[in-house]
Amino acid sequence: MRNILVTGGAGFIGSHLVRLLVNKYPDYRIVNLDALTYAGNLENLRDVEGMPNYTFVKGDICDYELVTRLFREYDINGVIHLAAESHVDRSITDPFTFARTNVLGTLTLLQAAKEYWKQPSDAPRRFYHVSTDEVYGALEAAGTFFTEETRYDPHSPYSASKASSDHFVRAFHDTYGLPTVISNCSNNYGPYQFPEKLIPLFINNIRLGKKLPVYGKGENVRDWLYVEDHARAIDLIFHEGKDGDTYNIGGFNEWKNIDLITVLVTAVDCLLGNPEGHSMDLITFVTDRPGHDARYAIDASKLQDELGWEPSLQFEEGLIKTVQWYLDNQEWMDRVTSGDYMEYYNNMYNNR
Ligand code: NAD
Ligand code: DAU
Repeated sequence: MRNILVTGGAGFIGSHLVRLLVNKYPDYRIVNLDALTYAGNLENLRDVEGMPNYTFVKGDICDYELVTRLFREYDINGVIHLAAESHVDRSITDPFTFARTNVLGTLTLLQAAKEYWKQPSDAPRRFYHVSTDEVYGALEAAGTFFTEETRYDPHSPYSASKASSDHFVRAFHDTYGLPTVISNCSNNYGPYQFPEKLIPLFINNIRLGKKLPVYGKGENVRDWLYVEDHARAIDLIFHEGKDGDTYNIGGFNEWKNIDLITVLVTAVDCLLGNPEGHSMDLITFVTDRPGHDARYAIDASKLQDELGWEPSLQFEEGLIKTVQWYLDNQEWMDRVTSGDYMEYYNNMYNNR
C-alpha cells in the first residue's frame, strides 16, 4: 500500500500529476496538500475529486503541526513535493514569500518525514523533490547543456530559493539517510497553466486582441516540455529512481522566445480562423526582466538511458494541442483572470 502526500497538487504540474496517479494506481492513497494560493485551482481537478483513492487537504506546507498530523493520519510513506512559489517575476518583487514557501516549506516537510519515518515499516519510503533547471543558472553558447553535474548558479530569487531547497533535500539524505530523490526540469507547457506564464498569457492576449509583452529583444532561449511528459517522468523516477540521486528532465526542445511567439501567434490565429499574420502586430518589446537568464537547455540523457523515459510529443503537436485546449476552455481562463475560481472552493474549505 502506498500512501503518497503530493504537495501543490492544485497547481499546474501538480494537477496533471495527481490525475495521473489517481487514475493509474487505484490501490494507492493520494493526499493532495495545497494552500490554494492564487496559483492553486481545484477546478483543475474536477474530474478526480470524487475518486475513492483521492483526498484533498487545504493547508500550508510550512505548518509543521498539520504536516506531522497528515503523516500520522494517512501513514504517509511517499512524498512528491511540488508546492512552491513558481513565477520568476513575482520573486523579483516579493522574495520573502519565495524563501518562506520554497525553503522553509521544504524543510518542514523534510523534518516531518524524517521524524515519522523513524518508525520501522515494511513499506518502501521516498521523499521526491520536484525542482527546476533554473538552479543551474544560464547557458551562453549553443550546444552546451545542463547535466546533473552542472554547478548550481541561481540568479533570481526564485531560482535561489529552489537551489536552497535542493541543498536541504541533499543534506537530509546525507546527514539523516532520508531516502530522497530530486529532479530538475525545464519549462513546462500545456493545459491548466496559470496565465502569468508566457504561453497561456499570450494565447489569452491574442484571443482578446491585447498586447504581447516580449521581454528585451526576445532572444532568450527556453527548453520546452509538455506537462504530461513531465508528470510521466515524475511517476517513473518516484518508482524507479535511485535513492540520493538527481535526474534532469527536458525535451531537447530549445526555442528562442521570439521564434516561439511567432509560431504561437500563427497557431492561435489559424485556430481562431483569423487571416495569417493578423495578430503579429500585438507583439510589443518591453523592458527586460532583471537578471533574465539567457538560455536554458537540459541534457536528459541520464533519465533516458537509465530509466528509459522519453518525451511522447513533438513540440508542434503539443503546442497545437495546448492552444486548442485554451480556446476550448475559455470559461476556465475567464474564471482565472476574473478571480472567480478562488471563490467556490476557498469558501467550501474555509467553512470546514
Ligand atoms: P504552480 O505555481 O502552478 O503551482 C504551485 C502550487 O503550490 C499551487 O497549487 C499553490 O497553491 C501551491 N502552494 C504554494 N504555496 C504553498 C504552501 N505554502 N503550502 C501549500 N501549497 C502551496 O507551479 P507549477 O508550475 O505547477 O510548478 C510546480 C513545481 O514544479 C514547483 O516546485 C516548480 O518549482 C517546479 N517546476 C516548474 C516548472 C514549470 O515550467 N512550471 C518547471 C520545472 C520545475
Ligand atoms: O525553466 C523552468 C522554469 O520555467 C520553472 O522553474 C518556472 O517555475 C517557470 O515559471 C518557468 O520560468 P520562466 O521564467 O522561464 O517562464 P515564463 O513563462 O515566466 O517565461 C518564459 C520566457 O518568456 C522567459 O524568457 C521570459 C519571457 N517572457 C515571459 C513573460 C511572462 C516574456 O518575454 N514576456 C512575458 O510576459
